[in-house]
Amino acid sequence: MKIRLALIPGDGIGPDIVKEAVRVLDKTADIYGHEFEYRTLLAGGCAIDRTGEPLPAETLECAKESDAVLLGAVGGPKWDNVPSSLRPEKALLGLRGGLGLFCNLRPAMLYDELAGACPLRSELVEGGLNVMVVRELTGGIYFGERGRDGDSAYDTMRYSKGEVERIARKAFEIAMKRNKKLTSVDKANILESSRLWRATVDEVAADYPEVAVNHLYVDNAAMQLVRNPKQFDVILTENMFGDILSDEASMITGSIGMLPSASLRSDSFGMYEPIHGSAPDIAGQNKANPLATILSAAMMLRYSFSLTKEADAIEKAVEDTLRQGWRTADIYTEGCRLCGTVEMGDAVISNIK
Ligand code: IPM
Ligand code: MG
Repeated sequence: MKIRLALIPGDGIGPDIVKEAVRVLDKTADIYGHEFEYRTLLAGGCAIDRTGEPLPAETLECAKESDAVLLGAVGGPKWDNVPSSLRPEKALLGLRGGLGLFCNLRPAMLYDELAGACPLRSELVEGGLNVMVVRELTGGIYFGERGRDGDSAYDTMRYSKGEVERIARKAFEIAMKRNKKLTSVDKANILESSRLWRATVDEVAADYPEVAVNHLYVDNAAMQLVRNPKQFDVILTENMFGDILSDEASMITGSIGMLPSASLRSDSFGMYEPIHGSAPDIAGQNKANPLATILSAAMMLRYSFSLTKEADAIEKAVEDTLRQGWRTADIYTEGCRLCGTVEMGDAVISNIK
């Protein structure tokens, strides 16, 4: 298969980790007979420095012409004081909105090898933890009307039925391939948009009778995630609740530096990125953990190109690498082999079968 990939390394450690993911992709392509063609694009703080804007039109155009996008991380303190319309985060929202990526998948899982890093009591996560947060990504308060009115400020959370329906369908399809259990999270006791959300999810649920569905208010969901995380399999929620709950879900695995994500639409196109930030303090020092980006590349092969064997091979190589004791500083514990970004990449590459 010949695949045209847009690479957006971004800021901070972004270039360090994307480089390793590319090496892993190339090794996978060699073994399985594929060809990746890369185009590197500017977005985030580096784009502000070079072009004056966080998301140059050329980046969005090239991303649209590619088969998928692999992104490192954007942002950093250097751009904290630029006007809000020029912040690096604008690049992310512009890519999500501009590419129509309404479905954000954030798997939070506990790696056996890293179980000690989980901040919850071990009996709460015994037997493993594997939650898939399905976050609506192009609607709600992130994209609603906002502004200032005298000395007031406002943001608007708005959803159409169609927007809820399409993300709900994605979530149910995913639940069907997992454990057929879905929790929809909203604030239907207060918000009108949540009442529409809940009614629409129930309508879609009728098409998936095998999936067990429950609804939780977001405050309760936040509490249940730390009280009894094993009750969750697929969590379906709107944009801002998903932002908050996916950070919480990833933290309870103790592996926030390990987790990948996918942002999808209805066709096979997607943008893939680690969920962690740009860590400018360790940029360019061969210290960053590339595993979340490598696992994002695996998600890309799985979700955009249906290359299941290849994705499995990368995920297995990461597990083997952890089992062999390789650890970057962020996940290091005594007795393990401390290594840098490049050595971690090397270890994964040598484990790809
Ligand atoms: C995320 C981030 C972004 C978001 C920011 C950087 C715009 O927190 O991807 O979760 O809020 O969506
Ligand atoms: Mg977030």
